[in-house]
Amino acid sequence: MKVWRTDPSTNAFRDEAGFAEACDLLAAGKLVAVPTETVYGLAADATNADAVAGIFAAKDRPRFNPLISHLESVEAAMAVGDFGDMAKQLADAFWPGALTLVVGKHSDAAICDLVTAGLDTVALRVPDAPVMRALAEALERPLAAPSANRSGRVSATSADDVAAELGDRVSMVIDTGPCAIGIESTIVDVSGEEPRLLRPGGIARDEIEDVLDRRLAAPTPSAKPIAPGMLTSHYAPRARMRLNAVAINPGEALLAFGDAKIKDLEAAVAIDNLSASGNLREAAANLFRAMRHLDESGAETIAVMPIPNEGLGEAILDRLSRAAAPRDR
Ligand code: TXA
Ligand code: MG
Repeated sequence: MKVWRTDPSTNAFRDEAGFAEACDLLAAGKLVAVPTETVYGLAADATNADAVAGIFAAKDRPRFNPLISHLESVEAAMAVGDFGDMAKQLADAFWPGALTLVVGKHSDAAICDLVTAGLDTVALRVPDAPVMRALAEALERPLAAPSANRSGRVSATSADDVAAELGDRVSMVIDTGPCAIGIESTIVDVSGEEPRLLRPGGIARDEIEDVLDRRLAAPTPSAKPIAPGMLTSHYAPRARMRLNAVAINPGEALLAFGDAKIKDLEAAVAIDNLSASGNLREAAANLFRAMRHLDESGAETIAVMPIPNEGLGEAILDRLSRAAAPRDR
């Protein structure tokens, strides 16, 4: 697995050999791990069914789960999907950024059926990540990219995480440092009458509700497909997770939040604080890194302090409760 380190803060990265190599690999149907502002993505040409099949194989991901396609601009996204008023408003307000929109797919869109799991809707995002956008632009195609981790495991927020998760299953990793947001995009389904929040994420529900001037509904109970991020057990470290801890049991690691005291702190074998000042944005950015760090301590259980269910707290609690859910593996 090749690693290309680059600085995306100026356009100069487009002239580096690594960029041309990433383009060639993607054009040849290979997998490249590409950083975004949310998490690292495992990218492939969304119009190439063999390439997309490679994503499912590398992640051990069930094939009924569709993927997000990344585009360089709103115009490129509108060429693939059918944007009604709500979709346009949200794209205007939040793209490029950590919002994924589920919209109707144009029947002539070149995205392959494996990306959409055969649905007539498609999940689209224009990320605030210059390298991903530049690759999509150079290839003149959407890039399908789920999070660059094995299915069901903790998402990758650094190139080292990607290497640990996927190793030689990916041809190249592009390293632009840790992800600024650190938690996956918010997914909103605007393909029907009512906007639905399919997955809380990097943009808080109330920001979206403010723009639409209406509430986001829950996913329909029959919502098919089940988003992997909607499966009960997901984002799971090796250690068990225990939420809303008010005391530490012997041998546990502590995932702290804020500066509140916790009982029997001295019993903790390792401690990480998501945000000592109680800032939920900072906590989201640290979440997956901290889960990996505490997992490496070898503790059997990670005790998690209470986290408020407001703003980005909704997305953090969503990930933590899935990480804590009973597992079938
Ligand atoms: O931040 C993110 O969203 C990251 C970065 C790499 O962009 N990507 C990501 O992808 O989290 P992934 O594949 O792990 O999650 C995509 C989610 C899945 O839960 C999938 O089921 C849902 O999007 N999805 C995709 N297409 C859909 C559709 N047509 N209808 C409903 N859900 C869909
Ligand atoms: Mg994922």
